Amino acid sequence: MHCVRKITPDILLIGGSDRRLSLFENVFPVPRGVSYNAYLVLDEKTVLLDTADSAVGAHFYENLEHGLQGRPLDYVIVNHMEPDHCSTLGAVLRTHPEAQIVASAKAISMIGQFFDADVTGRCTAVKEGDVLPTGRHSFTFVLAPMVHWPEVMVTYDATDKVLFSADAFGTFGALNGNIFADEVNFEAEWLPDARRYYTNIVGKYGPQVQTLLKKAAGLDIQLVCPLHGPIWRKSIGWFVEKYQRWSSYTPEDETVAIFCGSIYGNTENAAEILAARLADNGVRDVRLYDVSHVHVSYLVAEAFRCSHLVFASATYNGEIYTPMENLLRDLKSHGLRNRTVALIENGTWAPQSGKQMRELLSTMKDMTILEDTVTLKSSVKPPQLQSLSSLALLFSRDVRLLASAKQEP
Ligand code: FEO
Repeated sequence: MHCVRKITPDILLIGGSDRRLSLFENVFPVPRGVSYNAYLVLDEKTVLLDTADSAVGAHFYENLEHGLQGRPLDYVIVNHMEPDHCSTLGAVLRTHPEAQIVASAKAISMIGQFFDADVTGRCTAVKEGDVLPTGRHSFTFVLAPMVHWPEVMVTYDATDKVLFSADAFGTFGALNGNIFADEVNFEAEWLPDARRYYTNIVGKYGPQVQTLLKKAAGLDIQLVCPLHGPIWRKSIGWFVEKYQRWSSYTPEDETVAIFCGSIYGNTENAAEILAARLADNGVRDVRLYDVSHVHVSYLVAEAFRCSHLVFASATYNGEIYTPMENLLRDLKSHGLRNRTVALIENGTWAPQSGKQMRELLSTMKDMTILEDTVTLKSSVKPPQLQSLSSLALLFSRDVRLLASAKQEP
């Protein structure tokens, strides 16, 4: 049975949520599931904005036909060609041979790459600022390359002031009846997954997101309809501010995240001592993560959130401990920059991880890496205890300064 939801009298949310998927993109754990949103506009012409992942295909097709109520499908606007939004596009085009595709030229070329369907004569390539009137509604296309693929555009409905924002403003998490962000406890329960979604999926493309935010600032937006997660009709500025921070690599919180790669627990002991000294010095909400046990997508999100980062790693095969190296390479891939960093290394006969972590971090932009690495030879001894206390004092002062600078008008 269909599960179509009304957003406005003539804009419907179709698509569906997948609660069975373990790894989104075969990489990211989604314990809260994920939604694949598609939108149907019932105007003088009917318009489908994006399709859905085949995992929710049965519900999507049923919702689409229910929404159409036997009317032809006039237009399919394709904002994004990643398969989580287009794997059902081929079937829609076969079922609705009357439908015209409206997309960027790049997206149209990708249709041929993904599907065998002959779409000759069915496609309209649109450019920045092109307008599609459909009766009461009027859709303007805004190109958003690399948010998060090159073909991406977003679509603005000037009539109802709706931004169909593609992956932007999306989040992991299945929709559970409530479809609006103001109907759920977004900040407490959704924000960590929204941050994890942004940083891991789009994080590398901060400058391109900034460009899109600048374009969006020129539009009167009353509703944001993303391809994943709840729809925004209130407090849109609050979420936009998060996007401003994430896309400019500005930390959200003045605090310390310690990422620890420890084989037998001695490196972890140093991390725990540092965490305790930071707390003694008044740093709130210190986080200590074992990189072997927490999925790297959560660690990437935390590195984007926190102002001060500590990487504490054992030496392994003369190199950085493997899970720590994976984290650092992931942070580099996602373009993290503008953080203050301290290093702790351990090695029983030849500690190497500090030097190699420093080399890797030095290739990232705007990183302030403390000159002194805390070096352990197997375990914490009185000299390291002293070094950890000094590091805690230095970071706590820095965190305080940053926090007070943020509060100044
Ligand atoms: Fe949700 Fe880039 O696809």
